[in-house]
Amino acid sequence: MSPQGDFRGVTQLTMSDIKIKITDREGLLHEVDAPTDMNMNLMEVVRSYELAPEGTIGICGGMAMCASCQCYIKSNHTLPEKSDDEEAMLSEAFFVEENSRLGCQIHMTPELDGLEVELAPEEA
Ligand code: FES
Repeated sequence: MSPQGDFRGVTQLTMSDIKIKITDREGLLHEVDAPTDMNMNLMEVVRSYELAPEGTIGICGGMAMCASCQCYIKSNHTLPEKSDDEEAMLSEAFFVEENSRLGCQIHMTPELDGLEVELAPEEA
């Protein structure tokens, strides 16, 4: 869907969903629908589809304080800048790459349709 929208009489629900490709920690690719109208972030999307075992992601509840939601951004989407909190957490986390982000800091917006991410390994 283009940022201008692709209105062809589809339902409201469909219009507010975007597609995201998530590679889990086992290397399996999942293509999921994520709502953009529920104020969800990427960590919550991963949890809602149970793509990482309970207790291994979202440990701090999305406060940018644990890095359990770290993921690698694989597509060329322009994401919002990192906050100071996110920068600070990523500077202490393991397995950090150039394209690392904290999933809990990435909110689902229509611009992110087609986003491709990979979950970083578990730290523990
Ligand atoms: S859930 Fe803890 S940093 Fe994202």
